[in-house]
Amino acid sequence: MSLLEINGLRLAMRSFDGETEVLNGVDLAVGENAIAGVVGETGSGKSLTGLSISRLVPTPPGRYLGGTIRFDGQDLMTASEEEMRRLRGRQIGMIFQDPTTNLNPAFRISTQMVDIALNVAKSDPELIGIQARSSRRARRVAARQRCVDLLGQVGISDPDTRIDAYPHTFSGGMRQRVLIAMALIGQPRLLIADEPTTALDVSVQAQVLELMSSFVRERDLTMIFITHNIGVVAQLCTDVSVMNAGRVVESGDVRKVLKNPEDSYTKELLSAVMTRDTPRPARNRAAAGAVA
Ligand SMILES: Nc1ncnc2c1ncn2[C@@H]1O[C@H](COP(=O)(O)OP(=O)(O)O)[C@@H](O)[C@H]1O
Ligand SMILES: [Mg+2]
Repeated sequence: MSLLEINGLRLAMRSFDGETEVLNGVDLAVGENAIAGVVGETGSGKSLTGLSISRLVPTPPGRYLGGTIRFDGQDLMTASEEEMRRLRGRQIGMIFQDPTTNLNPAFRISTQMVDIALNVAKSDPELIGIQARSSRRARRVAARQRCVDLLGQVGISDPDTRIDAYPHTFSGGMRQRVLIAMALIGQPRLLIADEPTTALDVSVQAQVLELMSSFVRERDLTMIFITHNIGVVAQLCTDVSVMNAGRVVESGDVRKVLKNPEDSYTKELLSAVMTRDTPRPARNRAAAGAVA
């Protein structure tokens, strides 16, 4: 059975010129321990699909017209807000594209991380290695230690000191590492990463991708990786779903889909990458350069 299963999800968004259906029946199944790429061009509905899983699309302006989302057998469309709050962070973690909008510049990283850890510990004290009856001070110390450990694990050097820095003192890549650490505090089973490396330099992007794939391999994690970049999918993912105009048009094992795409849109997406990135004979290279 899949850990996550979306069937026929339809979502309309209201804007000043009326309501438009932006998800037109999304089907998506993600198996346990998969790294499931969701790829498609801007506006195809990737982010709204990811946000729907954690039920973070505000309604209004959003309105669900149909479909089901099941996580580990539980129906998320009908779950109460209270249940969703419990699931978010604990079972389902999220990482977004732009670290600057997700780290509050006014607070030290320690403050922001420890808050999350203390919150998580309310329902599961063992996560930070304390007993339910521990004192407030003991909780705080344990929560901070858990955050320091995680920062070390995502490659922040000297985490014991740097945890007390403000976000702006970190580079973009380092901030994204902090966000990954934050998403891991609750040991989620499913991590949804929406364009987490798009804002980063190519070399930093490669490091962060490597980090994320090692996390999935080492910790019983499942990841949905949303990106417009099919090259990243090829590098990182085990499975892929291709989205176009609010629908998944093709999905399956990543090697199979990338090698033998069946859908015409997938073919188009792939041929665009080929013409841009694949080395070609010298004769054509000059021509391609002239066009670019
Ligand atoms: N808050 C919103 N109000 C109205 N339309 C929206 C809103 N958010 C997204 N949309 C529309 O929904 C479609 C899908 O958006 P999105 O899921 O963000 O696409 P992607 O992540 O693939 O770029 C787009 O056409 C976008 O304009
Ligand atoms: Mg998006």
